[in-house]
Amino acid sequence: MSYYVTTPIYYVNAEPHLGHAYTTVVADVVARFKRLKGEEVFFLTGTDEHGDKIVQAAQKAGLSPKEYVDRMSKAFRDTWPLLNISYSRFIRTTDPEHKRVVQLVLQKIYDQGDIYFDEYEGLYCFGCERFLTEKELEDGLCPDHKTPPTPLKEANYFFKLSKYQDWLIDQIKKHPEFITPERYRNEILSFLREELEDLCISRPKTRLTWGIDLPFDDRFVTYVWFDALLNYLSGIGYPDDPRWQKFWPAHHIIAKDILKPHAVYWPIMLRALGVPLYKGLHVHGYWNVGEAKMSKSLGNIVRPAYLVDKYGCDQVRYFLLREMAFGLDAHFSEEALIRRINADLANDLGNLVFRALTMVRKYFGGEVPAPDEGKEADKALQALAKQVVAEYDREMEGFQFHRALASLWELIGETNRYVDHQAPWSLMKEGNTARAATVLYHVLEVLRIVAGCLWPVCPASAEKILTNLGLSLEELSFSRLEEFGRLKPGLKTKRGKALFPRLEKEETPPEPSKEKKSEALLPFEEFTKWDLRVAEVVMAERVPGTDRLLKLRVRCPEERTVVAGIAEFYKPEDLVGKQVILVANLKPAKIRGVVSQGMVLAAKDKEGLKLVVPESRVNPGAKVS
Ligand code: MSP
Repeated sequence: MSYYVTTPIYYVNAEPHLGHAYTTVVADVVARFKRLKGEEVFFLTGTDEHGDKIVQAAQKAGLSPKEYVDRMSKAFRDTWPLLNISYSRFIRTTDPEHKRVVQLVLQKIYDQGDIYFDEYEGLYCFGCERFLTEKELEDGLCPDHKTPPTPLKEANYFFKLSKYQDWLIDQIKKHPEFITPERYRNEILSFLREELEDLCISRPKTRLTWGIDLPFDDRFVTYVWFDALLNYLSGIGYPDDPRWQKFWPAHHIIAKDILKPHAVYWPIMLRALGVPLYKGLHVHGYWNVGEAKMSKSLGNIVRPAYLVDKYGCDQVRYFLLREMAFGLDAHFSEEALIRRINADLANDLGNLVFRALTMVRKYFGGEVPAPDEGKEADKALQALAKQVVAEYDREMEGFQFHRALASLWELIGETNRYVDHQAPWSLMKEGNTARAATVLYHVLEVLRIVAGCLWPVCPASAEKILTNLGLSLEELSFSRLEEFGRLKPGLKTKRGKALFPRLEKEETPPEPSKEKKSEALLPFEEFTKWDLRVAEVVMAERVPGTDRLLKLRVRCPEERTVVAGIAEFYKPEDLVGKQVILVANLKPAKIRGVVSQGMVLAAKDKEGLKLVVPESRVNPGAKVS
């Protein structure tokens, strides 16, 4: 059996953030789960590199589009190994084979008469890279980007979406598994109740050259969505490569922001092309910070590299999957992450592993003990393990990862209680070695099953548990988890170190009293907690209604918004291009309605404020220590 899973290809106008990381980790978990079940998997991710947005971002960075996309695409490729992402291929829309496929498809659809030339006037959102209808606007603004759309009148090529509208409605109605969860299927069906407009698929080169030429009119480049969606075909070698025959159709994972292109344009493109439709579109909600979606344009992003460095890869992966109900929005906070690590990973799972292996070492010389026929309590644990594996399987297949993990944690919790009740230490004291052996065998066997199920989500930790149980990773397969009692007595176990160290809650220290402030000496570790970085100001403006505050966009190296109380001493226009020192790991704070992500350092005397700046130019994001 083969399985093809994709993430969106991410725009390279922003550094990778936790929102991108979530979709990519989900795809990785699905890929690993399918591999665990013995399927051959192709997992595609990549970057979307054409279009207006990218040109604008390159200009801002003072680079050519090519230099810019090379640098930013690399930022994604450098991030995924930190999260242990096991993709099969990383596609870039600037790859020559991709361009060839886009041109081939355009020509075919043009030749069969589904593309025509016309003039169009409408409201264009550069953030969404598409025309918006009046109805979609909220208070005259794009609902996603909170910016006014630009009126545009242009002669362009159009793709006949409308011709396929009835067919698409029928397809979605007949196949409930085509778009899931159901709320998104309903959203699309309700959108399709209105007449579908044809899709403008070109941009005149007079306005945009950074794209793929239309093969039938080189005065135009193709629309970025038409280009981007085709990555799902070019990425597995459509039309000639045997991999495409083997792996297509795909399962696509996306967030709700790009539902329409995937649920409307894409199936119609495939249909027009005569290619079988994708198997499933799996749509998730947003990671929010406070009330707002985490996004570059809102300046509230969290960098995956920062989290992995601070908390560990498996910890972050587990949190992402456990905390978000797939399909709904979730809130991100470091407090919630710390809570999950301490409660679920360190206390429940970590302790169970540690105490089981410690007892096996102490009572049985580290060898898996042999069980006897067992008692009621053992049979009950076996039955629960079987039931949990079945539930886990069902929930993983249904993309309900949080439920799959909750079910696994029921088994972990019950096993902890089993250890407490059976108390192998008392059994040993009483000289009942046979019973202690049976109990510990059951605990080790649960750990084998738990580690196997957990492998797709926390691969490195699961592998540690399995090797500590004396197992070889080659034997890891889902069918072996469904059967209780496969662990062979006599295997040599290893206790190893604690899997998930407990984290101290980061308390905000009480404000020291005024008199003591200058005397208080801090240990060096306090200083190392500060993430101080060089940040470059790319934009500055006054915060309306105040005399003191400026809103700055800074690069450090990702872009953020910070509010600084320096308006009395600096003009906004004098700050652009200046390098400053940023405290980058402060909790975001809302100041006069603007979310500030950090604090800029300044020195104060009776003359006023002076910004602290590096002595000469350094790379934005450089650490200050
Ligand atoms: N380039 C297009 C996609 C083309 S796919 C053929 C694009 N790129 S994007 O960089 O904006 O990525 C959007 C995707 O990133 C979302 O669909 C989601 O997978 C992920 N996310 C970005 N921000 C997110 C959140 N705050 N929360 C959850 N996912 C987020 O659109």
